[in-house]
Amino acid sequence: MSGDARKTAEGLSYLSGFGNEHSSEAVPGSLPEGRNSPQRAPLGLYAEQLSGSAFTEPRAHNRRSWLYRIRPSAQHPAFTRTGNGALRTAPFTETVPDPNRLRWNPLPEPAPGTDFLAGLWTLGGNGDATQRAGMAVHLYHASASMERVFSDADGELLIVPERGGLLLRTEFGLLRVEPGHIALIPRGVRFRVELLDDFARGYVCENYGAPFQLPDLGPIGANGLANARDFKAPVAAYEDAEGPVEVVNKFCGNLWTATYDHSPLDVVAWHGNHVPYVYDLRRFNVIGTISYDHPDPSIFTVLTSPSDTPGLAGVDFVVFAPRWLVGEDTFRPPYFHRNVMSEYMGLVEGAYDAKAEGFVPGGGSLHNMMSAHGPDRETFDRASAAELKPQKIDDGLAFMFETRWPVTLTPQAAGAEHLQRRYDDVWDGLERHFRPLR
Ligand SMILES: [Fe+2]
Repeated sequence: MSGDARKTAEGLSYLSGFGNEHSSEAVPGSLPEGRNSPQRAPLGLYAEQLSGSAFTEPRAHNRRSWLYRIRPSAQHPAFTRTGNGALRTAPFTETVPDPNRLRWNPLPEPAPGTDFLAGLWTLGGNGDATQRAGMAVHLYHASASMERVFSDADGELLIVPERGGLLLRTEFGLLRVEPGHIALIPRGVRFRVELLDDFARGYVCENYGAPFQLPDLGPIGANGLANARDFKAPVAAYEDAEGPVEVVNKFCGNLWTATYDHSPLDVVAWHGNHVPYVYDLRRFNVIGTISYDHPDPSIFTVLTSPSDTPGLAGVDFVVFAPRWLVGEDTFRPPYFHRNVMSEYMGLVEGAYDAKAEGFVPGGGSLHNMMSAHGPDRETFDRASAAELKPQKIDDGLAFMFETRWPVTLTPQAAGAEHLQRRYDDVWDGLERHFRPLR
């Protein structure tokens, strides 16, 4: 690592806007003007395209970036298989899909020296990574910064920190992400995760399907929900480092490793729209009722991975951010329901307004397709009797990965010590109130 390169890389600043054609150069004059692949790229760099969509996908869905780097990515030795640790990939076939409501406590403390990659622990998922369809729910816990570099050919990684900040050193530059923020690493982009605190923990949605995009707004209009300008891409920053660097590649469910003789985070300039980004969930413009009832939680969609069927997402990322509740004659917590979509919920901080206890930060719940769920008894009783004055919900930040297919568990999730054995009990004791008129 050259000292100068590291110093350059420490500058954290961002470009704004979702899905935009951004450009950035760490060294003046390193980004070619007017053409993507000139006969000689500036400053002796190599030009390379990274395609996140098929060349021919419609412009609105087309994702690609041009990278101007010290060495071309092609220059590397053969990859060899390495252990997958607790990381698993779709298709998930080791357990049968479970219709039960399930809830987990947080992962136990990681062993000393556990980096982000070693600390990835797969809960389950659906689809088939080789078909680029479906998703996986992972949790992570880490006690050490990565020395190695990782990339995921199977999908994009939506990282939701719950404890501890992360510094993501990516091919495109640096991203800082704290609890309450999210980060997205696109398919195939190389990165290293460094810890900003002694310990880090959180959630990852690995999306094998179409890249996450902002949902359409329909009658909401031009503004609202997550605003494009609040998504931040990194400015270019590079490592000019000779010497052995382990690069781990996740490919069709397995981890493969190779030792490069240089850092692959050597992109000096880039332009394009297949880029990593961060987003502060507190920037989410929450929309809800100002009369009665409340909209379906799709109104809280931050990002959606569309399928071929309009309105049917492979996976949605939904956030339950601080908001006012003002509905008149309305049961205000999330209602009882059964859903054709499957819902994995996590909690970044505080509490969730449908549960009195048991759903804790770092934990999670799974309500698979058509599983009946909703408020627990204490929440139901309280909300049914509450005086309906305007109420601010500002003591928690919950989120949901909501997916079109049931989530099948890994054996480690189905048999985990931290799986709560009596989750069904939260709906015990919901009293019979029916009084037929005579
Ligand atoms: Fe639900």
